[in-house]
Amino acid sequence: MSGQIGELDERYLWHPFTPQRDWDADDAPVIESAEGTDLIDEAGRRYIDGVSSLWCNVHGHRHPRIDEAVRDQLGKVAHSTMLGLTHAPAARLAKRLVEIAPPGLRRVFYSDSGSTATEIALKMAFQYWQQQGGPHARRTSFVTLRDAYHGDTLGAVSVGGIDLFHSAYGPLLFDAHRVTPGDAGELERVIAAHASEIAAVIVEPLVQGAAGIRVQPPGFLRRARELCDRHGLFLICDEVATGFGRTGTMFASEQERVAPDFLCLGKGLTGGYLPLAATLTTERVYEGFLGPAEEARTFFHGHTFTGNPVACAAALASLEAFEREATLLRLQPKIRLLGELLEEVAGMDEVTEVRGLGFMAGIDLGEHDPALRLGHRVTLEARERGAIIRPLGDTVVLMPPLAISKADLVRLVTITAESIAAAHASAYGEAPRELHPAAQAASAERAARAA
Ligand SMILES: Cc1ncc(COP(=O)(O)O)c(C=O)c1O
Repeated sequence: MSGQIGELDERYLWHPFTPQRDWDADDAPVIESAEGTDLIDEAGRRYIDGVSSLWCNVHGHRHPRIDEAVRDQLGKVAHSTMLGLTHAPAARLAKRLVEIAPPGLRRVFYSDSGSTATEIALKMAFQYWQQQGGPHARRTSFVTLRDAYHGDTLGAVSVGGIDLFHSAYGPLLFDAHRVTPGDAGELERVIAAHASEIAAVIVEPLVQGAAGIRVQPPGFLRRARELCDRHGLFLICDEVATGFGRTGTMFASEQERVAPDFLCLGKGLTGGYLPLAATLTTERVYEGFLGPAEEARTFFHGHTFTGNPVACAAALASLEAFEREATLLRLQPKIRLLGELLEEVAGMDEVTEVRGLGFMAGIDLGEHDPALRLGHRVTLEARERGAIIRPLGDTVVLMPPLAISKADLVRLVTITAESIAAAHASAYGEAPRELHPAAQAASAERAARAA
């Protein structure tokens, strides 16, 4: 029971992406603290953070060096504006980001969420062509992939394609050309037909996250880059979800040796600590915004907390942790282990498909009556067993922190398998059937440990 916090929550809070009528705060764990890759509720129960606190945690919680960097910065200044002033954490972080980003990305524009990072890329691309003038000023539209997700602000929603999230706002949105993800032929046809009025192509490189962890065929991103080059269009890579090691390399674009014109970063940028996002672009784009003040080539965009120094200090410490702890190197055997564990899950009767890349996995439960809320039931079952996961409809998502131990990774997948079986049984009023062998082994191991 959450007691007082539950009462306050129900009286005063409104939760994101949550059907509030069915929201029962007393049923939700009140997270009080964390340790490594575990979240701990006010009753002291521990849960594996199976979706990295919404896909952002990288090195675990309360990482000593990131904590220290945040404390050090708090001893200096918590916030000062980037309008008319500058500060060391923002400047140093910009240098580091340019060093690790795909080649050619030389300028960093900060904001505070993944949505603003993509919104900024769209606005910059649009404004760049307007300022080029002549026939270029006709480049006002965007090409996006069906089922894309780029955030919840209106520009980001306009290039988004998940009907459930986006259709309510239809009249507020601008049109975009939509292409089937992975279909290079269709992309080529759409670009060829409309090239002179397209500002940019926007993609989630290699994997569409919110669409249900949908992996694109190899070569698609490279082809998109070639088509943009051929027709003189910008390529925007939204690496808000895939960035910072999620797909096994620092950025997904690297895997196809693609350097976009705009790179959108968020989530894992601070190791998942604080709200900070960045839009990186080329010197060519930057120079398109230079000119005498009276020409108003300024990029008219900025948020109060743009480039917040505490968040930048956390991001610098996170990037340092990637180096010191060889995070990406140590991730590789865990990616292989996750793949092996998921092969077993794919064999379950209740599972129709398992998809994934790196440390992003989607487990499809097939077609079910939405009223059964099967994915949601899996979440509740997993919570009982000590893991926090969150589905996308009836796709169960696993996206653990990169720092998770092999033992906890095994535990997370076995809890998930067990929870899928239990949720299915409860949804269809069956007695829980015999568990998946991996889940059985995990239960036995847990029981032994508890004894
Ligand atoms: C690819 C992608 N872009 C943008 C966003 C939006 O990020 P935020 O929730 O920080 O606004 C997300 C969030 O899941 C995402 O997956």
